[in-house]
Amino acid sequence: MFTDTHCHIYKEYYQDIDEIINNAKNNGITRLINNGCDNKSNEEVIELIQKYDNMYGTLGIHPESVDTYHEDEIKFIERNCSNPKVIAIGEIGLDYHYTKENKKEQKKLLEQQLYLAEKYNLPVIIHSREATEDTINILKNFKVRGVIHSFSGSLETAKIYIKMGYLLGINGVITFKNSKLKEVIKEIPLENLILETDSPYLTPEPFRGKRNEPARILEIAKFISELKGINLEELARITNENIMRIFDI
Ligand code: NI
Repeated sequence: MFTDTHCHIYKEYYQDIDEIINNAKNNGITRLINNGCDNKSNEEVIELIQKYDNMYGTLGIHPESVDTYHEDEIKFIERNCSNPKVIAIGEIGLDYHYTKENKKEQKKLLEQQLYLAEKYNLPVIIHSREATEDTINILKNFKVRGVIHSFSGSLETAKIYIKMGYLLGINGVITFKNSKLKEVIKEIPLENLILETDSPYLTPEPFRGKRNEPARILEIAKFISELKGINLEELARITNENIMRIFDI
């Protein structure tokens, strides 16, 4: 009984969402947290969580949309913050991989959404790429809890986030041959980890290169249970407890 805590299940990527959800169920993935990242996907998340009992949603504007988003889109998020199936603000954050020119705008967009999370007492799903220092400095200014999505940093960085009360979201990256993440995660207590696929991206081995889907949580779970020397049932129990500590689910 696992939960995919971070996926992007939109019509743009999946023709048959019923089938994707059934595949997940058949593999023991009983709950999905569908993450919005721009206005179009946020609206779709609201539609889908009404349709599927076992799907929860998060709403946010991803840093990649910093140059194109409108204030109205933040208002849309705020209007939906009290929907009981909207359980977090995300995916939000800082991404300096492609562009550093709009750092200032990215920070402003992140802060705007952190204010919302604080105001509505919602956790946050943080995307941080090549921006660790700025991410930590901004998060420190807000009384929020949440998840560092797709964590792939150093042990030192992991410890800082954990001390700040954040969980680390672990996905297929840990199964990649050249990934140094397994060495880091070996040292981190399971109480600080949750599992995610980031579907349709980051497909775990041995399926790397194919489109990802929530059913593949099982591959990530198998990898981590071997790494940590515990069985799948125990891993499911601990990660589900971690989820309950952060999310109202
Ligand atoms: Ni994502």
